[in-house]
Amino acid sequence: MTNTAGLFIALEGGDGAGKSTQARLLVDSLTGAGFDVVLTREPGGTPAAEAIRSIVLSPDYAGLDPRAEALLFAAARSEHVHRLIRPALDRGAIVISDRFVDSSIAYQGVARGLGVDVIAEINLWATQDTVPDLTVLLDVDASTGLGRATDPNRLEAEPTAFHDAVVEAFRTRAAGDPDRYLVIPASNAPESISAQIHDRVLVELQRRTQ
Ligand code: TYD
Repeated sequence: MTNTAGLFIALEGGDGAGKSTQARLLVDSLTGAGFDVVLTREPGGTPAAEAIRSIVLSPDYAGLDPRAEALLFAAARSEHVHRLIRPALDRGAIVISDRFVDSSIAYQGVARGLGVDVIAEINLWATQDTVPDLTVLLDVDASTGLGRATDPNRLEAEPTAFHDAVVEAFRTRAAGDPDRYLVIPASNAPESISAQIHDRVLVELQRRTQ
């Protein structure tokens, strides 16, 4: 993202891709190297956004209207960006978010069928054009990823075809902007994945100082 002192990294992928583990490993490696690092997640990251999370992921609301779902994710994200992500970037931190706008594009735009353009537009508005400097896609086939899910949330409970569409949407998005995406097969060993991500983040940081 331009015009901020910090670096904004999003981790994306289908359910069960191992993002949360990689997010933690990245925090450890960057903190160990002396950087100011903020780890956060979506939906969530602030008290109000976490409250929205508990609604939007709850199996109690099976059949929630897709537009309401898209707007709830965007509402949580707006709060998250303005209260947590932007201030951290402005002070020069590295912000690592477990999911960001691409999740809405893949899940709501493509898999729910609401349309990529409208979801992108809503989210640009909600975030005031906040775009990650780097998005890491942990690429896993839906059947493999879902096999890892225990206690499925409302989205994880969707049928396999939905999750296949999510995975394809992430791949398409990454293929369209190779400079901004790092795609890693989630089947790689966790230490190898974390080393690849760490190296790429260092490249991004070096680019900024040139
Ligand atoms: P979570 O438990 O965080 O799952 P994961 O560990 O796979 O990230 O639940 C987040 C769920 O919400 C996940 O199924 C993806 C979905 N989601 C959307 O559908 N749209 C979004 O914009 C975001 C951020 C998440």
